[in-house]
Amino acid sequence: MHIPVVPLLLLLAVSSIVAGAGAAPSPSGSENDAAALLAFKAQLADPLDVLRNNWTAATPFCHWVGVLCSRRRPRVTALMLQDVPLQGSLSPSLGNLSFLSFLNLTNTELTGSIPPDLGRLTRLRFLALANNTLSGTIPSALGNLTRLEHIDLFHNQLTGQIPLELQDLRNLRYIVLMTNYLTGLVPHDFFNKTSLLGHLNLGNNRLSGTIPQAISQLPMLQFLNMQLNYLSGPLPSAIFNMTRLQYIYLTGNYNLNGTIPSSNNSLNLPMLQELAIGENSFTGQIPLGLSGCQYLQVLSLSVNQFEGPVPAWLALLPHLAIIYIGQNNLVGTIPPALGNVTNLEQLDLSNCNLKGLIPQELGQLRRINLFNLHHNQFTGHIPTFFGNLSELQFLALNSNFLHGLVPTGLGRSRTLKVLSLGKQAIWRTQLSIHPFKL
Ligand SMILES: *[C@@H]1O[C@H](CO)[C@@H](O)[C@H](O)[C@H]1NC(C)=O
Ligand SMILES: *[C@@H]1O[C@H](CO)[C@@H](O)[C@H](O)[C@H]1NC(C)=O
Ligand SMILES: *[C@@H]1O[C@H](CO)[C@@H](O)[C@H](O)[C@H]1NC(C)=O
Ligand SMILES: *[C@@H]1O[C@H](CO)[C@@H](O)[C@H](O)[C@H]1NC(C)=O
Ligand SMILES: *[C@@H]1O[C@H](CO)[C@@H](O)[C@H](O)[C@H]1NC(C)=O
Ligand SMILES: *[C@@H]1O[C@H](CO)[C@@H](O)[C@H](O)[C@H]1NC(C)=O
Ligand SMILES: *[C@@H]1O[C@H](CO)[C@@H](O)[C@H](O)[C@H]1NC(C)=O
Ligand SMILES: *[C@@H]1O[C@H](CO)[C@@H](O)[C@H](O)[C@H]1NC(C)=O
Ligand SMILES: *[C@@H]1O[C@H](CO)[C@@H](O)[C@H](O)[C@H]1NC(C)=O
Ligand SMILES: *[C@@H]1O[C@H](CO)[C@@H](O)[C@H](O)[C@H]1NC(C)=O
Ligand SMILES: *[C@@H]1O[C@H](CO)[C@@H](O)[C@H](O)[C@H]1NC(C)=O
Repeated sequence: MHIPVVPLLLLLAVSSIVAGAGAAPSPSGSENDAAALLAFKAQLADPLDVLRNNWTAATPFCHWVGVLCSRRRPRVTALMLQDVPLQGSLSPSLGNLSFLSFLNLTNTELTGSIPPDLGRLTRLRFLALANNTLSGTIPSALGNLTRLEHIDLFHNQLTGQIPLELQDLRNLRYIVLMTNYLTGLVPHDFFNKTSLLGHLNLGNNRLSGTIPQAISQLPMLQFLNMQLNYLSGPLPSAIFNMTRLQYIYLTGNYNLNGTIPSSNNSLNLPMLQELAIGENSFTGQIPLGLSGCQYLQVLSLSVNQFEGPVPAWLALLPHLAIIYIGQNNLVGTIPPALGNVTNLEQLDLSNCNLKGLIPQELGQLRRINLFNLHHNQFTGHIPTFFGNLSELQFLALNSNFLHGLVPTGLGRSRTLKVLSLGKQAIWRTQLSIHPFKL
């Protein structure tokens, strides 16, 4: 009767190694995890049979595809089935995976709502449910996930408000709620305790009210996206004094207004790479302080009420690739210095009140592919250099007072896709311009 004991112990040891465990297993917790995974599987259609063929009794669950266990005990620490079509709703049983720290179910065709039970996963650090069709509200219970560092609910159909309880996520570094149907105010207290937040993306929702002052007190913030919402009112001025901020996207809220601080005392964004605040109601001049943003690549201010001249200091920004400042109340001439922005790829000055000649210096913009000057009061000949810009794809000069020949080079261009010269005196050149409608 004693003899079988040794093989049995061996068997246990082997099976615990197979299960990925080194120390004594905790059978009840482990059984609970197995049951939770099976309950999760049971709610999914699994059309490619990924779970049906793999999550079987023949294999210890720690070896199931997409499952990782702790090295110390057979408890599930990660569930990673991203890009596997699962089709179905999330089982509340996931809340029983009490050792789970990593959950990635991005792009898995999930439907239904996010179970509040996920709020029981107190060890969870990473939660990504992006690119599904999850609906309902964001459960306030997620505010209990105090170790959470990363939450990505991008591109679902979530509704309701951003729960105030999320303010308790004091380890949060990354939050993306972009492209949902979230409504209501952005909770003002949300940012009081999330001092590690580096990436904040609430874009493409239906959020209203003003942008909370507290955002500007996030010392680590590098990325801010609140574009395409219904936000209104002035920006907290301290947002322009955030030394780590690299990306600001506030485009298309329509009713964000007020001025942007101008002087380099009040606008100090030394790391800024992209500023996109078009389609709003901002006023005042294009702020001089931006001339200190040495890394600026994208400046998109179109469709606002900015006034004053096109700043010559733009030429001081060596990385500028995109300048969209059209559809504002800009006056004066194009500063020839813009020809020195040699990395420039797109220039939109359309729909302003600019006048004078188009400076020859712009012919130095060898990388430019989009040149949009339509609806201004430019005079003189169409500069021949347009025919020499080898990357040019889009050229709009219509609705100005330009005259003269269409540059011959445009007729030979292999890159040009759109040419708009209408409403001005044009003589066809001797060379073919057939590909283009005048
Ligand atoms: C399940 O998937 C894992 C990882 O892809 C693989 O090693 C294992 O052989 C699969 N098991 C079965 C029964 O298909
Ligand atoms: C989660 O899954 C998505 C989709 O495949 C992937 O892009 C992302 O890198 C994954 N995240 C991590 C941390 O593995
Ligand atoms: C979680 O586990 C407990 C204990 O095993 C069980 O009673 C309960 O039904 C489980 N909950 C879910 C949602 O599976
Ligand atoms: C989102 O899902 C669609 C289809 O499910 C897929 O084609 C697309 O690549 C996914 N996008 C991302 C960012 O995962
Ligand atoms: C968070 O956890 C506490 C303690 O477990 C619980 O009382 C509370 O209801 C939870 N909060 C939410 C919003 O579920
Ligand atoms: C958050 O900070 C603001 C000031 O920035 C303060 O008025 C508010 O009371 C704080 N809220 C909490 C919950 O600490
Ligand atoms: C700015 O927008 C707010 C909210 O829409 C509005 O109350 C305020 O009058 C606007 N201010 C200006 C100067 O237009
Ligand atoms: C601020 O601008 C002034 C005037 O253009 C300039 O003299 C000064 O050096 C700038 N200061 C900084 C810190 O860039
Ligand atoms: C900008 O931030 C610095 C340091 O954080 C602070 O000393 C200064 O007062 C701030 N300036 C403005 C205009 O907010
Ligand atoms: C362009 O830069 C060169 C070299 O720094 C300088 O000599 C020239 O004056 C600048 N052109 C304009 C129009 O500012
Ligand atoms: C256009 O290019 C041709 C050939 O490279 C050159 O001779 C001509 O001067 C250029 N014209 C302009 C306006 O840059």
